[in-house]
Amino acid sequence: MSTPSDPAVRLTVDGTPLTVPAHRTVAAALMLEGEDAGWRTTRRTGEQRGLFCGIGVCFDCLATVDGRRGQRTCLVEVADGMDVRTGTDDD
Ligand code: FES
Repeated sequence: MSTPSDPAVRLTVDGTPLTVPAHRTVAAALMLEGEDAGWRTTRRTGEQRGLFCGIGVCFDCLATVDGRRGQRTCLVEVADGMDVRTGTDDD
């Protein structure tokens, strides 16, 4: 939950600048960006994946965060200057 004292954090998502309140997960930032339908597709069928369980169990929310592939974005807190890359199952 956002509080008036939460500072803003600036990150990029696929090269696009995004400002979100601190202490949010990357998945929450992606949802704020309008990626609620999903931010990656599966390798075999091309199905959309994004936030599903929200607790680090399903691995649907993967993305590359600061060059680290396969990060569960529902578990990673946003940080100033963070670089998030979305895409396919290879993330
Ligand atoms: S949404 Fe399930 S692991 Fe992140």
